[in-house]
Amino acid sequence: MADVFQSERFFREAWPQFSRAFESPSDAASEVEWITGLAALAAGARVLDAPCGFGRHSIELARRGFEVTGVDFSETELERARAAAREAGVTLTLACQDIRDMEFAGEFDLAVNLFSSIGYFSDDEDRLVLDRFWRALKAGGLFVLDTRNRDQIVRSLPPEERKRVNGWTLRIENAFDPATSRWRARWSRIAGPGAARPGPPRGGPDEKRAAGEQLIGESEIRLYSAHELSAMLRPERWSRVELYGGLDGTPFSLDAPRIVLVARK
Ligand SMILES: C[S@@+](CC[C@H](N)C(=O)[O-])C[C@H]1O[C@@H](n2cnc3c(N)ncnc32)[C@H](O)[C@@H]1O
Repeated sequence: MADVFQSERFFREAWPQFSRAFESPSDAASEVEWITGLAALAAGARVLDAPCGFGRHSIELARRGFEVTGVDFSETELERARAAAREAGVTLTLACQDIRDMEFAGEFDLAVNLFSSIGYFSDDEDRLVLDRFWRALKAGGLFVLDTRNRDQIVRSLPPEERKRVNGWTLRIENAFDPATSRWRARWSRIAGPGAARPGPPRGGPDEKRAAGEQLIGESEIRLYSAHELSAMLRPERWSRVELYGGLDGTPFSLDAPRIVLVARK
């Protein structure tokens, strides 16, 4: 079992409390449409979705007749994926595992790492995760990675964001450390409808927390620029690597919110 990492507690305890407010099944459907268009898979092709969260992309892939393996280390999210698969009438193979421990070898026609699911570890371990995807693919298989574009975030990360989550408000306090390229966030819950818009800026970490506001968790994620991620993929071992700015084929630019790397083994 891989060592504890910076955001492990956040992903185990906090993220499942509001993941469904961020991860939309309808976005997943259109993203899978684009990905499968590129991958041009044969019927029954094998697909790896890691980490799969509550299975929104896995289910869309399975609906199209592919054999899908989803990996995530959160039993809470996997249980939701099982329930959603039952409801959709599809079969998924789900594994509760740390993505650093994946040992697949030459098994998949397509492997995906979607919605900012890289950067959770040290740079060396992130590189190891990319190696795991390369190893998991058959020759000719496709890898699709989608994450936030560091260079866009550097110029646009708001110090505070708020989001409504089923009757309560989530407050996210953001900080980007330019020395490490790590995005740190504090995620708090504010009871009631009171706070759908940002309040006055706050100076220090724990001061002036509004009554009824409770810290849920803290995350720290390494953000990569496109050239860093492309280099980490080790482009020489792929037959082709392409860069996009979204899971719809948007061209990549400084202003693109996403980095999408598409690599053919
Ligand atoms: C931002 S979510 C994305 C999930 C999914 N790709 C999607 O788009 O819906 C990140 C997921 O990574 C999982 N995760 C975090 N660290 C992990 C690890 N070390 N191994 C496996 N899964 C992990 C979390 O449980 C969470 O479900």
